[in-house]
Amino acid sequence: RLRRRLVECRYAIDKLVPHLLSIYQSLIPPEEEKAKQKQLLLSLEKLVNKQWPKAQLHIYGSCANSFGVSNSDIDICLAIDDADLSKSDILLKLADIFQSDNLQNVQALTHARVPIVKLMDPISGISCDICVNNLLAVVNTKLLRDYAKIDDRLRQLAFIVKHWAKSRRVNETYRGTLSSYAYVLMCIHFLQQRKPAILPCLQQMEATYAITVDNTKCAFFDRVEMLRDFGAHNKESIAYLLWAFFHYWAYCHDYTNDVISIRNGGIISKRSKDWTRRIGNDRHLICIEDPFEIEHDLGRVVDKFSIKILREEFERAADILQFDSNPCVTLFEPY
Ligand code: GTP
Ligand code: MG
Repeated sequence: RLRRRLVECRYAIDKLVPHLLSIYQSLIPPEEEKAKQKQLLLSLEKLVNKQWPKAQLHIYGSCANSFGVSNSDIDICLAIDDADLSKSDILLKLADIFQSDNLQNVQALTHARVPIVKLMDPISGISCDICVNNLLAVVNTKLLRDYAKIDDRLRQLAFIVKHWAKSRRVNETYRGTLSSYAYVLMCIHFLQQRKPAILPCLQQMEATYAITVDNTKCAFFDRVEMLRDFGAHNKESIAYLLWAFFHYWAYCHDYTNDVISIRNGGIISKRSKDWTRRIGNDRHLICIEDPFEIEHDLGRVVDKFSIKILREEFERAADILQFDSNPCVTLFEPY
């Protein structure tokens, strides 16, 4: 009888597929947005090159990792080799350059965790954050983008999870909840763990792409066109996976002992990383290993209050998908 109940429940969840896919479609940015971003990047690069002819601008974050919704701000990294200037000086100089070109709201935040210059382009209305030499972020952006090319369900799942997290206000690192980047890593880990697996572990495969950034070796398999059938044996629908994702984080994840690692393709122990106790402000109450900066826990922002909120939100989401009469609305109800 239990088995029958489970089958019925899965059948009911699978009926949500069209509704979830239409939500996903509505979140995807239109092509012309990409073109506008490229345009702006080129014109900013031209300005920068007047001062530093060899400097380059790279887009990273959601506008380049394929997990960006419409009207996202663009994250830009300035790659520059100027031994005479400190990072702060470079940022102040950048702010000067942009200010004199009529870009708006130009602001150098030299004391932020990641120091940046913020600006707004009055022609396109696009806002940008520009950081200096944060090339690891450019490489992890490529890794995420490559994962997204393997199976469409990753992009669908991550868009819906990000949309849920923004609606429920659990995507605010300054309030102790998780970054978008952390949610995408959670989705990749989850799809690596399905049986049969929907995603491989690119960092455990033969490296076809390798680069050393700030003494960190980054290497992974990036010929992902060869992996388009990887997840084909797994027929789970996006609706079922969404439910299973929340169910995993609500009821199955071992918060006391486990670290999720997309680098390793599974779970590793908190003990092996020495993440069992609070050190400084890092509490390790939910542990998400960065794929390249492996001493870096993306869950470190979560405190004893926000972990409770997060776990309650995971439970709420799983329960709504299973029991609510109008789940695709209730799930995203503003908090
Ligand atoms: P939205 O702006 O919310 O749509 O998402 P996003 O993909 O831009 O994510 P987010 O703003 O969280 O992060 C932007 C990029 O910065 C990510 O794609 C990463 O490349 C990088 N990043 C963010 N947080 C960290 C972090 O803690 N460590 C590292 N190494 N990189 C990070
Ligand atoms: Mg961003």
